[in-house]
Amino acid sequence: MTHVTASAPGKIILFGEHAVVYGEPALAVPVTDLSARVTIRSGPVQRGIWFEALDLNKSFSAQDEPDSPLATMARITLNYLRHSQPDVMIIIESSIPVAGGLGSGAAVSAALGRALAKWYRQPIDDRDLSGLVYEVEKLHHGTPSGIDNTVICYSRPVWYKRGTEPELLRVREPFQLIIADTGVASTTKAMVSSVRDRWASQPDRFNTIFGSIGEIVQSARAAIENGDTAQLGPLMNDNHRLLEEMGVSSPELEILVAAARRAGAFGAKLSGGGGGGNMIALAAADTTDRVLGAVRGAGAVRVIQSTVHSTGA
Ligand code: PMV
Repeated sequence: MTHVTASAPGKIILFGEHAVVYGEPALAVPVTDLSARVTIRSGPVQRGIWFEALDLNKSFSAQDEPDSPLATMARITLNYLRHSQPDVMIIIESSIPVAGGLGSGAAVSAALGRALAKWYRQPIDDRDLSGLVYEVEKLHHGTPSGIDNTVICYSRPVWYKRGTEPELLRVREPFQLIIADTGVASTTKAMVSSVRDRWASQPDRFNTIFGSIGEIVQSARAAIENGDTAQLGPLMNDNHRLLEEMGVSSPELEILVAAARRAGAFGAKLSGGGGGGNMIALAAADTTDRVLGAVRGAGAVRVIQSTVHSTGA
């Protein structure tokens, strides 16, 4: 075989981030305008796996950096496929911004797992792939809920609750999301651990917040399945207020959220770990341009529009 290629989309969390780590459900959708792509070609004999991460301008052998996320994913996948290390060149390209809550790490792992399975012509289903990606997420992000690997490997909008099978969401009326980046890099691991510290010192208060978020997620699911898109706006605002109370918003996120609402969005909220990264807004078709202009004017460094429908976003 001369080469194989596989890809995986980015993702965005619609509702329920952070509370999902504590057992509440959450909703996430793939962002197919962004993707990670992995190509595998034969490499020099006995050199093992050689990675070329094009966007990072970095190349290295799996042997020299065995604990890197890429080498770890390759090892775990080869173990699953029951193959020893091949002599290959693995090229990684990604249009997903790093550390912005868009799932760049999980998407690269998913594309790599799929590409290796293709290389050996062994099928791997979404569920098993998601399990392998989760192992890498655990090593590098501490205590992930599992939502990122799930939505990225299934490449469908999902309702996710720890410890249960993910459910694919039926999106009755497709809707458009505006995803705006504060430009402030923030690591999910640090944000999750800051919430854990606050939860440990005020468990009752935080458990109440998590429970309220869980109720918002249930209502949002019903609104999506019934095609009541406008109803999602107030739910986004409520979810954002609870995330702010949790201490995971930031001045930059507040500015973008306020700008989107002032411009007439149905609702807006931070998305993902918080502390920076992205916010999302939902607007009617005739106000979308105004909201786009408003978040750009308020300092967003990148704005993406993404349509959410049952087969992806
Ligand atoms: O920052 P993101 O989009 O990767 O989202 C993390 C979501 C959290 O709920 C904060 C953590 C998790 O593991 O679910």
